[in-house]
Amino acid sequence: MNRAETALITSPPRRWLQRAYEVPVLLRFGGRLSPGSKALEIGCGSGYGSQLVLQRFGAQRIDALDLDPAMIERARVRLGPYGERVNLVCGSATDLRSALNAEDRSYDAVFDFGIIHHIPDWRAAVAEAARVLTPGGRCFDRGCQRRQRGIRSQRVLTAKPPVTLAHEPSTSAELRRYVWQPVDRRG
Ligand SMILES: C[S@@+](CC[C@H](N)C(=O)[O-])C[C@H]1O[C@@H](n2cnc3c(N)ncnc32)[C@H](O)[C@@H]1O
Repeated sequence: MNRAETALITSPPRRWLQRAYEVPVLLRFGGRLSPGSKALEIGCGSGYGSQLVLQRFGAQRIDALDLDPAMIERARVRLGPYGERVNLVCGSATDLRSALNAEDRSYDAVFDFGIIHHIPDWRAAVAEAARVLTPGGRCFDRGCQRRQRGIRSQRVLTAKPPVTLAHEPSTSAELRRYVWQPVDRRG
């Protein structure tokens, strides 16, 4: 990430948006997690999203990864007080086995706060998110606008039954169209 992007995603207004808008919307659609839940956040940036996942969604534990080592360092500082409830890793959302040794069906929830559209091989990231979710697991996607990079990431995140997607209302029509399509369908 360049300096401007780093400044933006680590800024107080970004945290405000995440806390005051994104989390309430995702909670409304996807609800809190069950007690004892294990979550994953891809592209965690400075870790504020993971903090909200612990505090507001009620995850017991979270694994959070980011490609940028500087972001992981920031997240380590922020999330230090949570101790062993947090595992921070530098790696790519496109290969969760290499990054986290993540098994199939090993997370109750996956969180994506505006990252999928940053990944050139976004289909691999979406397939990985679906692979690691437990049956009935939820993918909380604070998605991008459908025209960004020509990617309609939201449709694919709905794809693998019985994965459930919590999403923004602005994308709901798009999501309904694509519910239950197989994750490896390319469009
Ligand atoms: C727009 S920022 C969002 C950060 C944070 N989730 C937030 O909402 O503020 C995108 C983040 O995704 C990370 N990223 C980009 N490609 C990635 C990949 N393939 N795997 C993991 N993280 C990635 C970047 O390093 C950056 O921290």
